[in-house]
Amino acid sequence: MKYYHEHIMQMLKESYKYQISSIKEKEQVRHRIAPAQNIMKRASLTVVGSGIKYKSHLTLEAKAYIEQSDRVLYLVNEPVMQEWIASANPNTQSLNDLYQRHKLRADSYRAISEYILEELQKKQYVCVVLYGHPCVFAQPALDAARKADELGYDTLILPAISALACLFADLRINPGVIGCHSYEATDLLIHKRHIEVTSHFVLWQIGFIGCVKHPKDFDNRHGLKVLQEYLQNYYPAEHPLTIYEAAQYPSFEPKVETCMLGDLQNAATTRLSTLYIPPKCQARYDNAMLEKLNLRVEDLYERKL
Ligand SMILES: C[S@@+](CC[C@H](N)C(=O)[O-])C[C@H]1O[C@@H](n2cnc3c(N)ncnc32)[C@H](O)[C@@H]1O
Repeated sequence: MKYYHEHIMQMLKESYKYQISSIKEKEQVRHRIAPAQNIMKRASLTVVGSGIKYKSHLTLEAKAYIEQSDRVLYLVNEPVMQEWIASANPNTQSLNDLYQRHKLRADSYRAISEYILEELQKKQYVCVVLYGHPCVFAQPALDAARKADELGYDTLILPAISALACLFADLRINPGVIGCHSYEATDLLIHKRHIEVTSHFVLWQIGFIGCVKHPKDFDNRHGLKVLQEYLQNYYPAEHPLTIYEAAQYPSFEPKVETCMLGDLQNAATTRLSTLYIPPKCQARYDNAMLEKLNLRVEDLYERKL
């Protein structure tokens, strides 16, 4: 057992050494292993997330890519993190100007995607940093990575801690017990999507409902009223809701504000607010299915709400 433990520790040490040694070397290794795919040689796109909490959520691997890539493009919402990225590599650029340059957010995203690909076509190791998880409610780098895949570039997306991961921890939720689903708030409304009231429900971007431009100074009251009306098709007016904001700095507390659904239209929201709605009732068992699977309710893990 002791030998096994030492062996694992040694492997981890080696792997960390490898991660933080040289990305360029690592790229060469990848190309050596897969010469048939060696189309672009000296170019790759790595998309990383910076997490939610300043530096605490940054993985060693993401940090290594930020520090060692030829070019680092970033779009993060928190000024201290922006500062750190800018100091971590001499060749960094904020994508914020490009983001703000267009009136419609959809145009901003398209422009950012195209810009990432232009930088990649200069045959360099490009790293793109987005806050939270880089694929979670963040489209431009994902689009760029998909396009880069099609063009035969070497791409990698590193997962990171998203606001949802923080919410599970702060609100003490295990999404596996009764399920959890989430939508973007405007998307929920314009598609009249179905809500499963027996599971946890999370709504993203409740701070700018119906806003297709940049959310700065957006008046969200009308959107919240429409959202409240829609949710009342599923939950009673006295159903409790939580407006949640994860802490962005170590030792800060998250913002956890509760209200009743009937008061949602008066709630104060920011562009960081995420809405959590607890289940209304317990899901019923399907007896035929239990029988088919040879299961008895009393043998199952108790599904607490
Ligand atoms: C453009 S999305 C970015 C999400 C991010 N990529 C992630 O992985 O969490 C912005 C939305 O994420 C959620 N969000 C971002 N930061 C948050 C925070 N600190 N606390 C709670 N929700 C947050 C909010 O719903 C916000 O409107």
